[in-house]
Amino acid sequence: MSHLLHSNLSTSICLHNSPSPSFALSPPHSITTSLSSSITAFRHENGRRYHNHGDGLTYPLPNDTDEINRLELQHKVWEISLNKRLYLAPLPPTITSVLDIGCGTGIWCIEFADAHPDVQVLGIDLSPIQPSNVPPNCRFLVDDANAAWAFPEKFDFIHTRALNFGVKDWDALLAQAFEHLAPGGWIELDEFHVPLECDDGSAAADSAVLQWGVMGAEAVAKIGTDARAALRHGERLREVGFVEVHEQKMKWPIGPWAAGEKEKKMGQLFLKDMSDGAPGLSVKLLNGLLGWEMSRVDAFIERLRAEMWNPKGHILGAEASIRCQAASLSKEFGGQPSFCREKSLQLLKKMAESAEEWQEGKAWWWSAVQRVFSPPNRNISRPRDVFTNRKNRGHKKPINSR
Ligand SMILES: C[S@@+](CC[C@H](N)C(=O)[O-])C[C@H]1O[C@@H](n2cnc3c(N)ncnc32)[C@H](O)[C@@H]1O
Repeated sequence: MSHLLHSNLSTSICLHNSPSPSFALSPPHSITTSLSSSITAFRHENGRRYHNHGDGLTYPLPNDTDEINRLELQHKVWEISLNKRLYLAPLPPTITSVLDIGCGTGIWCIEFADAHPDVQVLGIDLSPIQPSNVPPNCRFLVDDANAAWAFPEKFDFIHTRALNFGVKDWDALLAQAFEHLAPGGWIELDEFHVPLECDDGSAAADSAVLQWGVMGAEAVAKIGTDARAALRHGERLREVGFVEVHEQKMKWPIGPWAAGEKEKKMGQLFLKDMSDGAPGLSVKLLNGLLGWEMSRVDAFIERLRAEMWNPKGHILGAEASIRCQAASLSKEFGGQPSFCREKSLQLLKKMAESAEEWQEGKAWWWSAVQRVFSPPNRNISRPRDVFTNRKNRGHKKPINSR
């Protein structure tokens, strides 16, 4: 079954789901409207297929079969990396709805939906490359996460994984995620950052793999993407109003050189992922964005692969990812740990620009607590919206920094 839900100037949306509980990777089969055909028309450049949203520069990696295969393989690396878990956030068993932003092949959504049959899972992506045969509690939407989200739902859990190259403004995206989280909701950002790293100093000074990361960051900067964005996610989440932010840095070795069975297995798979994926991860960045001739790109890809597979080059490419979890501020108002309540008051105090605002903030806080204790009220404004009477916004400093 397919429904065309909505379109506006910046967002094209198509929803497809299937009542079948089985999962088989095949293209969505039921897209029939003209809007949907324009989405599935895709763009083709240098033998690769890309999403067809806007000017085509929202996200620079392909969406063709080779890329789908790479993402499926990468899913396995994530699985090992997170010790066979799909997420690390401490979700309560009562959750009912989940959003996966930039769901790619949809594999994470499908596995989550299978494991939690009572939870509704929505996956959004620029490309309709998800299968049509999915669990009944799983659906997909073509949408640009950088634009205003056109779906009204609130979720108990919002998840992103390897979305970074398609996000122009993480502050705005996280603020929007905050608005779309139900009280007590969690967000988890499993994100890479580049350039790649070598932390034992053993990479050659002219290492192609290390240069690749630097050039990739330079290329995506041209389309407004910060390749290092994940390094500031913890801070960003706190600024937006999230609390209980946990950050964890994980390293993915390229190649089975690292000590430890888990690291070796990850390294083996990630080596294949990066080596197979090198053309897809390079062509648009180096040719399209940095203007290299294709012959130079091809030669560079050969160097990359040779270096990755060289057993002596085991030092290369510690890939890092950072995970942040955050309970939305509203969690505090659900009567959860009292230290959280303290934190929310502290946050309000920080934001207040005068003693009057601090009084106003405290009053708002108490009324919010009372409203939450009277379900089903789930809508609480963000603290930044609390000081309704504030004049000259942005001119004064918060009282505790004066
Ligand atoms: C590297 S893939 C990761 C896919 C999936 N999260 C996974 O881990 O298997 C990134 C995905 O994010 C999608 N994406 C990038 N920017 C996006 C945006 N602004 N809005 C929606 N989807 C986006 C891409 O189309 C792509 O499918």
